[in-house]
Amino acid sequence: MNEPETTEPEMTGSDSAAPVPVDAAAYREAMSRVASAVHLITTDGPGGRAGFTASAVCSVSDGPPTLLVCINRSSSAYAALVRNGRLCVSTLGEGHETVAALFGGRTPMDERFAAATWRRLRGGVPALSDALVSFDCRIVERHAVGTHDVLYCAVETLAATGQADALLYSERRFRTLARAPRGGSAPAEAARAARTVGARPAEGPARTLRSA
Ligand SMILES: Cc1cc2nc3c(=O)[nH]c(=O)nc-3n(C[C@H](O)[C@H](O)[C@H](O)COP(=O)(O)O)c2cc1C
Repeated sequence: MNEPETTEPEMTGSDSAAPVPVDAAAYREAMSRVASAVHLITTDGPGGRAGFTASAVCSVSDGPPTLLVCINRSSSAYAALVRNGRLCVSTLGEGHETVAALFGGRTPMDERFAAATWRRLRGGVPALSDALVSFDCRIVERHAVGTHDVLYCAVETLAATGQADALLYSERRFRTLARAPRGGSAPAEAARAARTVGARPAEGPARTLRSA
């Protein structure tokens, strides 16, 4: 039987029965296809002020409110985060592409912070003043996994100010996700969208993705 032709880059690791170790480059290529929200992770305190751009941020639980952040231990922000034991997650929206790139590495910390305006939440860590939402956190646990540490963070204060479309990172580019239309409850909208496109209500309404 002829194999189907493909123009896609091969992603080894295979779906055949025999387990084959997945190569790091293939894993990065696969992950580049996963669209993620983009956040600034900031810290301040005895370890100094520091921050970096992160997409590896995930909610863990609402009881108690807990999220996780994955940080490469080679990041210039790592030592300050660990020493301070506190961080703020500021979720980015349309218009934050430049600050996301600056916090994405190789820029002195003072230049990163000079590129935006900040406000201090209760924990004393700077939050981006026009973030879609900010989570002021205390780091409660830290686990090393490969090159990264997983920081488990208790959420102590929330702030939501920004009204922009969400910023996403997908296929190594920033994109934006249009906000849901106003009016109507989110579950009702999800149910309507599900009837329209045949999706399950829990998957939410279809939204428009466009390049930044
Ligand atoms: C969109 C985007 C998402 C990123 N996500 C993460 C992440 O989740 N964890 C991480 O450790 N680094 C992440 N990085 C890389 C860091 O932002 C960057 O490597 C970090 O600032 C270290 O650079 P520095 O040592 O020059 O400060 C991301 C970068 C970009 C542009």
